[in-house]
Amino acid sequence: MAIREILQIGHPVLAARAQEVDESDIHLPEVQSWIDDMIDTMRDAHGAGIAANQIGIPYRLFVIEVGNNPRYPYKPATPLTTVINPSIRILSDHTFESNEGCLSVPNLRANVTRYLEIAVSGFNRQGERQSFEVRGYSACTWQHENDHLDGVLFPHRVTDPSSFCSWPVFQEFRQAEFAEQVRQLVRKWGA
Ligand code: NI
Repeated sequence: MAIREILQIGHPVLAARAQEVDESDIHLPEVQSWIDDMIDTMRDAHGAGIAANQIGIPYRLFVIEVGNNPRYPYKPATPLTTVINPSIRILSDHTFESNEGCLSVPNLRANVTRYLEIAVSGFNRQGERQSFEVRGYSACTWQHENDHLDGVLFPHRVTDPSSFCSWPVFQEFRQAEFAEQVRQLVRKWGA
């Protein structure tokens, strides 16, 4: 287990489409150690999730975990989950303007339109197929991590450039209003 360097926007491994993991390789120590490194690196950097290609591993898997996160204090909790070869299906047209940051995009945030009802499927780290639905604000995080595997970072999806701001500016001028929007969303959707 190790804390790895997080690649930054523009790095060719981050910009490329990651490859599928061979199902029969999931149990291999190498793949298991990737997952351990992703978890360690995510926790060390206080990320809400991390995709393998953010630490230079060009394969399709990500981990998500949200507890009491100082980077995103308004995010509802999500237990530690690993998804290998994920696919995301959109379940409805309900969307939300999600203000996002990314460990690979230092000191920048902006609004991205995300779907609020999705179905996630893929393998867990034991190699078992898993499938579940995610609703509400939490759904945004899954779409963000899944985007990484296609070389897509949040700035690529921004449609309102005036929403770009630095982290300190967000915290001083925009976080209170956004956190209230999230609270309303969580009340409506339960997550
Ligand atoms: Ni990210």
